[in-house]
Amino acid sequence: MTPLVEVSGLCVDYGRGSGRVRAVDGIDLTVNPGEILGLVGESGCGKSTLGRAIVGLEPAAEGSVRFEGQPVAPLGRRKRSTSLRKLQMVFQDPYSSLNPRRLVGDLIGDGVVLGGGTRAAAAQRVVEVLGRVGLPSDAAQKYPHEFSGGQRQRIAIARTLAADPECLVADEPISALDASAQAQVANLLGDLVRQTGLALVFISHDLSVVRQIADRVAVMYLGRIVEIGATSNVWSAPVHPYTEALIAAIPRADGAGILPIDLPGDVPDPASPPTGCRFHPRCPIAEDRCTLEDPRPVLIDEREVACLVRAPAAVGSAAR
Ligand SMILES: Nc1ncnc2c1ncn2[C@@H]1O[C@H](COP(=O)(O)OP(=O)(O)O)[C@@H](O)[C@H]1O
Ligand SMILES: [Mg+2]
Repeated sequence: MTPLVEVSGLCVDYGRGSGRVRAVDGIDLTVNPGEILGLVGESGCGKSTLGRAIVGLEPAAEGSVRFEGQPVAPLGRRKRSTSLRKLQMVFQDPYSSLNPRRLVGDLIGDGVVLGGGTRAAAAQRVVEVLGRVGLPSDAAQKYPHEFSGGQRQRIAIARTLAADPECLVADEPISALDASAQAQVANLLGDLVRQTGLALVFISHDLSVVRQIADRVAVMYLGRIVEIGATSNVWSAPVHPYTEALIAAIPRADGAGILPIDLPGDVPDPASPPTGCRFHPRCPIAEDRCTLEDPRPVLIDEREVACLVRAPAAVGSAAR
């Protein structure tokens, strides 16, 4: 299968010189049509930055993102709306992502009009996508403030659907919602993927939701992916010690599965990452070599893992 999105050797920086932070540092990743890829990891590990780079909202300092084989690069608003309209992003906060002074129908219809549709076609499409997200058609004549948080996130999702996307990157799309709306919006996203063949990158620090909806999961630590594989494999038998710690943390956080986790120390400053394996200062199984050698991802138990200790010796050396 040709991947829809292909991320190769991607690095994304903020700032310059000595103040430079490499928020995403050498990530390889593919997103296949019709799959849900979960992206998890503690706050500050680079999930949002990776998500934004995938849809062309952050430039690559090194490496590349390709969508259907074409390079994705940051573009002006109007150019973006045409050439990258198949790649859409849903943000965490449906309060700030929807302009409060515009009618919902116009907010949603804009995508259609910018994509070359007429106003009449847009009106039709607005009703259609409102239905797909479970909102009545008269929502189009209202303002965002007339809706609850969950409904607003549905509106934000409807707006992306108006552009007929092939890939949606949803960055913590349920974190700002109350508990019942969280489940509803997560289910809605899952249903949309199953019904339309859309690909979804679902970024969340809530592991239990990712476990429920994602086909594959990528675990990030300090700008890198430390483990990526089928969700069921990763959950039933995590290989990377960081993934183990994440999963072990789930029942402790009131059953909600919310990070942070129970590991010594904090996530180090990405401006000066630890030598060797970036996880070694917090790792329960680190050996001396982990302070020196930077692990490359290798295939272990049907998933890719970047860990020197867990890699079979022969595999580890063959990969270098
Ligand atoms: N606009 C920005 N300017 C400078 N640093 C940033 C910016 N956005 C994020 N960062 C830094 O990049 C790193 C990754 O951040 P982010 O991608 O937001 O992580 P996550 O979404 O996993 O919490 C963090 O160290 C964060 O402080
Ligand atoms: Mg984030």
